Amino acid sequence: MVLKRHLFLVGFMGAGKSSVGKLLAKRLDTLFVDLDEVIVKTCGQSINEIFARHGEEYFRDVETDALRCLDYRQPVVVATGGGILERRGNADIIRSKGVMIYLGASWETVYRRISTSSNRPILQQKTVEEVRSLFQRRQAAYRCADMCVNTDDCTIEMVVDKIVSNIENGD
Ligand code: S3P
Repeated sequence: MVLKRHLFLVGFMGAGKSSVGKLLAKRLDTLFVDLDEVIVKTCGQSINEIFARHGEEYFRDVETDALRCLDYRQPVVVATGGGILERRGNADIIRSKGVMIYLGASWETVYRRISTSSNRPILQQKTVEEVRSLFQRRQAAYRCADMCVNTDDCTIEMVVDKIVSNIENGD
């Protein structure tokens, strides 16, 4: 299958955006970009350092710039950060470039996947209850995606299969 449009994976931390994105790009024989990695390279600082030194608003500015300025000359699979839809305009940028794919998971799944993470500042700064509220608050924005794929109890391969078959079926 030849990929005609850029694919953007959105979803909460722990949804599997980076792992799925890497394998998806391989399956589609196209490029993969992890937006957080672009930000780290551009700023020369880790995500933790950016949040600690400059705060979340600054991170969101850099995130929007990174999204807007990616190299879109060839079809690319982009793993975005979990907060990408915090800025309303980012959904418009994504839609103008390609397809938004939401990787969904229940709170229980997400919590199990992220509870030992140390490189996610949002998790260091908030209580579990606050992270859970954030998870709930973000669902409405994620669900506006062009394609929603549930990842609970799925391997990375299974999620990639679902996405590829949805694209092939034109869903
Ligand atoms: C964030 C998610 C992170 C990263 C940053 C903020 C968020 O990406 O962009 O720590 O606000 O949910 P992952 O979803 O890849 O962990």
